[in-house]
Amino acid sequence: MHVVVGGGGKLEPGVYRYVPEDNTLIREIAGDMREKLSNAALSQPMIRSAPVSFVISAVYARIAGKYGNRGLRYTYMEAGHAAQNISLLGVELGIGICTVGAFEDEEVKNVLKLPANEEPLYILPLGYI
Ligand SMILES: Cc1cc2nc3c(=O)[nH]c(=O)nc-3n(C[C@H](O)[C@H](O)[C@H](O)COP(=O)(O)O)c2cc1C
Repeated sequence: MHVVVGGGGKLEPGVYRYVPEDNTLIREIAGDMREKLSNAALSQPMIRSAPVSFVISAVYARIAGKYGNRGLRYTYMEAGHAAQNISLLGVELGIGICTVGAFEDEEVKNVLKLPANEEPLYILPLGYI
């Protein structure tokens, strides 16, 4: 998962990769990329204005290596679980979150500089309304 940060908070603007093993964020791209991410998603305005967007992505080969043909369906189930958990946490914290599935895959990959085998699945812009 990546976190696209616009700035104004504790984190510098940029694109961060979440590293689950260390429960940490690594900044991979410096600068406010929200405009470009919004453009890659049919110019949907909430991505431009939200201070933060989560981008859930998948490496199909990795999950298929473990689960074979059922890997694809598990990928989408897991992405849904993750998005649901983020949304529930948003409700708990009083933070607005929306779910965005409409975007150009290759453009999002370019903006986030994802490896060729990593596919973006879901964008979740969030912020106080
Ligand atoms: C998988 C998925 C993808 C979605 N993608 C978009 C999207 O790209 N743009 C959008 O405006 N709404 C999208 N939606 C719908 C909104 O996130 C939201 O569910 C919808 O606007 C209804 O919200 P409301 O009941 O609060 O009005 C998507 C919903 C789902 C479940």
